[in-house]
Amino acid sequence: EQLCFGVDIGGTAVKVGLFTTEGRLVEKWDFATRKTKEGKEILKDVADFIKEKIQILKLDMGSILGIGIGLPGPVKDNGEVLELPNMGLGHFNIEKEMQELIGLKVKAANDANIAALGEQWQGSGKGYHNMVLITLGTGVGGGVILKDAILAGSNGAGGEIGHMLVNYKEKDRCGCGKRGCLEQYASATGIVRMAKRSLSSNNKASALQNIDNISAKIVFDLAKEGDALAQDIVSEACRYLGIACANIAQVIDPEAFIIGGGVSKAGEVLTDQIKEYYEINVMDALKNKDFKLAVLGNDAGIYGGARLILASNG
Ligand code: BGC
Ligand code: NA
Ligand code: ZN
Repeated sequence: EQLCFGVDIGGTAVKVGLFTTEGRLVEKWDFATRKTKEGKEILKDVADFIKEKIQILKLDMGSILGIGIGLPGPVKDNGEVLELPNMGLGHFNIEKEMQELIGLKVKAANDANIAALGEQWQGSGKGYHNMVLITLGTGVGGGVILKDAILAGSNGAGGEIGHMLVNYKEKDRCGCGKRGCLEQYASATGIVRMAKRSLSSNNKASALQNIDNISAKIVFDLAKEGDALAQDIVSEACRYLGIACANIAQVIDPEAFIIGGGVSKAGEVLTDQIKEYYEINVMDALKNKDFKLAVLGNDAGIYGGARLILASNG
């Protein structure tokens, strides 16, 4: 039986899945992203991890079609990575370097772009020909599918929704160097940043005041329990997301927006509120789009990785 690996390299964790050629997930794993100055060690970690799994599962190298990898930054068609805003990694060719480390065919693309392919292939995106996937994790990613094709642009940086400007008055810098990017308000890290900011400038009583390690999950949980400050932070994040979706729709008029990534575990509170703010900020002809949660959730990236490598094998 022919198999392939789908890999999703993220700022917090690396996810790895083993798939059949029909797209059935055989087994999946994850491990924490090692953060070092010499950031490229992550490539070696991934290669070693996969080699070990191949050994443990006694897989025949000849039966593995290759590895499809998603990375949190723009990736060109030839595998060149220009920047990884949340990993402090510069310019290198991921396909070339991984192939050398592991001796298998490697195809790579932006993580959210392939997550969009994964969702369209096996998830909530089934049946849509024009859709936008937004991943909310360490960063905010975007995968835009138009007429069934990923919009990668001229440098693989098409659909970099996380760095769309939504607030020109922001003082803090985003991981990309700019100020006022969507990611600064709607990513897991952005939500925590917003929570800390409102705690220091607000005297509303909130359970957040007594928590040392605020996470996006805690903010959403408290919001569900009725904590007013947490609810404000969630609304603010959804408002920026709704505005971003409205701006995207004004350009491409998709059928649906699908929300994925770790933060999407918060559930329908997200899609409901994003849709509400979307409709306030878009022209009439563009109202009534579908807003759905990604059903593959955090696995969309590994499915997309598998899809990428399978497609490149024809
Ligand atoms: C990067 C995107 C990526 C997203 C999610 C952003 O900071 O610019 O390329 O898709 O994070 O990982
Ligand atoms: Na993208
Ligand atoms: Zn940015």
